[in-house]
Amino acid sequence: MKRQLLVTAALPYANGHIHLGHLVEYLQTDIWVRFQKFRGHRAIYLCADDTHGTAIMIRARQEGRSEEALIADMREHHVRDFAGFDIEFDNYGSTNSPENRRLCGEIWASLRKAGLVVERDVVQLYDVQAGTFLADRFVKGTCPYCGLINQYGDSCDNGHTYSPADLKDPVSTLSGTTPEVRRAPHLFIELEQLHAFLADWIGADDHLQSEVANYLNGHFLGEPLKDWDVSRPAPYFGFEIPDAPGNFWYVWFDAPIGYMASLAEWCVNFGEKFDQWWPKSAADGKSDGKNNDSREIHHFIGKDIQYFHCLFWPGMLKTAGYRLPTKVHIHGFLTVDGEKMAKSKGTFVRAATYLKHLNPSYLRYYYAAKLGPRLEDLDLNLDEFVTKINSDLVGKVVNLASRTAKFVEVTGLSAKYPDDGGLFAGAAAEAEAIAAAYEACDFNQAMRRIMALADRANAYVDQNAPWQLRKDPTQASRMQDVCSVSLNLFRQLAVYLAPVLPRLAAQTGQLLGRPIAHWDEAQSPLCGTPVAKFEHMLTRVEKTQVTEMIEESKEQAPAAVATTPGMPGATPQTSAPAAENADSGAALAAEPLAAQITIDDFTKVDLRVARVVAAEDVAEAKKLLKLTLSLGGDTQRTVFAGIKEAYKPEQLVGRLVVMVANLAPRQMKFGLSEGMVVATGPGGKEVYLLTPDSGAVPGQRVL
Ligand code: 2FM
Repeated sequence: MKRQLLVTAALPYANGHIHLGHLVEYLQTDIWVRFQKFRGHRAIYLCADDTHGTAIMIRARQEGRSEEALIADMREHHVRDFAGFDIEFDNYGSTNSPENRRLCGEIWASLRKAGLVVERDVVQLYDVQAGTFLADRFVKGTCPYCGLINQYGDSCDNGHTYSPADLKDPVSTLSGTTPEVRRAPHLFIELEQLHAFLADWIGADDHLQSEVANYLNGHFLGEPLKDWDVSRPAPYFGFEIPDAPGNFWYVWFDAPIGYMASLAEWCVNFGEKFDQWWPKSAADGKSDGKNNDSREIHHFIGKDIQYFHCLFWPGMLKTAGYRLPTKVHIHGFLTVDGEKMAKSKGTFVRAATYLKHLNPSYLRYYYAAKLGPRLEDLDLNLDEFVTKINSDLVGKVVNLASRTAKFVEVTGLSAKYPDDGGLFAGAAAEAEAIAAAYEACDFNQAMRRIMALADRANAYVDQNAPWQLRKDPTQASRMQDVCSVSLNLFRQLAVYLAPVLPRLAAQTGQLLGRPIAHWDEAQSPLCGTPVAKFEHMLTRVEKTQVTEMIEESKEQAPAAVATTPGMPGATPQTSAPAAENADSGAALAAEPLAAQITIDDFTKVDLRVARVVAAEDVAEAKKLLKLTLSLGGDTQRTVFAGIKEAYKPEQLVGRLVVMVANLAPRQMKFGLSEGMVVATGPGGKEVYLLTPDSGAVPGQRVL
């Protein structure tokens, strides 16, 4: 049966760049959609930028431009990054679109009509200087329960939860001022009214992976569901609620509706009907949670946003009478070398940085080889990445073509498919098992099966050694047969790998004169067809390429400058799409005090007065100057400092600075950095080195 699949990936926030953590999801979804299309189903892959919320509003203010200009700029980056990884959306929209406003209005009217919306006052902190209410993540202070300082407005590191208004000594992270407590009316959705429906939907029909259903049952459905606060008072960048002037829909209300808005845009562009793809559930407008035809809706998301997609979103769809998701596929986070991605370690790699150093097909394959159907974190082990690409893709797959294509450039493939001992037929018989693994998002199993076929094919080529046969003119026909087998087995692998490696599939199509367009092409060999001149398909990865990428990413963090937490590089180090939470972590103007330490902790840091005796530009680095610092006598240290945009080297020579003298040396791309200079400021051009008063002498300890 031909299926019709509407597939979405979570909408990335428009306030940050796409990084390798995000790509786990966009690649997983792209592979799945390509697989479905390749099998002959009708599938569309929809996405959009998630553009609303406080974080965007604040950032636009800080950058002195409109929110629209900011999101337009970020969109260009996102679209370019996705294209660079061969991620092919059928439509890439924006939540700040007329379609989204209209659909939000429609769904809102249904929620009102169903009596789910209630109004209640909310006591919130208000930043008078910034002129805005403060979301939980924009306020820090002391936990009212345990006294831990420097905690966010909703919970502390010891696990206490509270409301921001209860926080002691609160400070706005936007302005550094003490916020006021103010009361404002908010609109809430009474989710509890949908409890029975949600419990039923979550438990039924494999809508969710079993561990997700268990988690939701255990954490939420065992007690009454809390009301969901879906409005924010002005100022807020978003859509004003038509029947509540001065209030805006919270970003998480309009974000999932953005999936529908993206569909609406696609329908206009391609002359399709919206309700053919996202139908109303039943003639009476009521959803029974069951989809009884071949039309499916699939959402791919990260584990941090399951609450929104598995409770609020089905609740909204059900109330508005729209078809519910067939399945929400949830993946884990990315770690790099077993740890959270970290800017300081260079493992927080932006998509654009990766593409400067490495071929996107490598990451597509590596992630595919690691992705399973369960909600598990995925580790990008950088050594394994190099080994796997070289041994699997270069050593096993492409090698089949590179070892044999040139020998049949003149003759083409044998007119009749030769006896290969059952290899082609055996691999053809694997098609359904491989397809089932793709279908179940068990790409890891699919890749293992494909590589097992590659091993068998390589053993055949090794045994039949066409390079030996070539030396004997009487063996010309046999050599042609062996190469024909090898190239057909190679093509079969390219077909199976096509959802993961579309470029390889295209190159294979060119080499063998027949584009690869359908999964079933793995069923019949090519015979008597020409073979084009072999062009390189995938080259080996060198570890140095990976190292250079990591070094460049380190450089995007402030290198060897101790800074205030607001500077780039002190951004929360997160690994998944949702990490760049809409209401958290925008640039900070004044950071509250850090957690308390003892004098013993402090004295571990050996701060010294140092004199800059030489300063030079590191030409290949965007941010770095190389400083030679004297600590008195003959003691000198080399420090690479991320201060190039703020200082010219000649301004620094002779100047006294404060340095962290006992920091473990760090090997950077341009040399060994043996400490840090101490500075403050938001970063970029605004970095201010700390200088001791006159009278201080190089080498003196700073206490
Ligand atoms: O967590 C995030 O990155 C959100 N921007 C995802 C939104 S997905 C959907 F609901 F729009």
